[in-house]
Amino acid sequence: MAGPSLAGRHVLVTAGPTYEDIDPVRFVGNRSSGRMGFAVAAAARAAGARVTLVAGPVALQIPGDVERIDVRSAAQMYDAVMAALPADVYIGAAAVADFTPAAVSDRKIKKGAGNDGLVLELVRTRDILACVADHRLRPALVVGFAAETGDLEANARAKLHGKKLDLVCANRVGVAGSGFESSDNTLEVYSAGGHRRMGPAPKTTIAAELVALVAARLGEQNDPAAAPPGKDG
Ligand code: CTP
Repeated sequence: MAGPSLAGRHVLVTAGPTYEDIDPVRFVGNRSSGRMGFAVAAAARAAGARVTLVAGPVALQIPGDVERIDVRSAAQMYDAVMAALPADVYIGAAAVADFTPAAVSDRKIKKGAGNDGLVLELVRTRDILACVADHRLRPALVVGFAAETGDLEANARAKLHGKKLDLVCANRVGVAGSGFESSDNTLEVYSAGGHRRMGPAPKTTIAAELVALVAARLGEQNDPAAAPPGKDG
């Protein structure tokens, strides 16, 4: 493949939604097909990296030489990610549920007579991305995603600084040809000093472009003199 290689690097990717169980038949979760994260994992493998993919519940395949760890909940994803460290790069493409039920009912909650509503108490999940960025084994590059409906740049930059990320990939949701179930996407990738637009293009194309940017930035960290002038904005 063209561009810098990721040979010898360990890239840890999360993808898909998480399902937070309410009872044995119901859950709350985020909308996510997992396609962007799976495409990123495949692109990192194609660039020569050893890849660990921690995937929420999705019906997608990944090349057999990617180590895939399937999880269901945000808590399971947290545990799998922490167990997979150290890594050179963390790419958090999963749509992790921000809230989970305070208690899981071990029986199906029935609609009884006079039972016209159900109040669900939700508690915050741990922010996996922020924990990775703050970890003593922090990867050299920590990349987050942001799905935004408005104020894309301001919200993305707030995430970049707030969670101590190296890159944040923002996509606009609620528009045709981008985000969730779409096979195409447009990413606005922000770093402390730069911005780059990727797409609109198929998620596989954008994933390869993102992986090339990650590889170039890793190369620069190892050899600052190798940074091509004016790159990444
Ligand atoms: N993320 C995570 N763990 C969580 C929640 C989110 O690792 N418990 C990661 C996602 O994988 C993604 C990024 O954080 O990389 C998304 O940030 P988040 O703050 O969840 O975005 P929003 O939910 O859109 O934030 P806000 O509520 O501020 O709109």
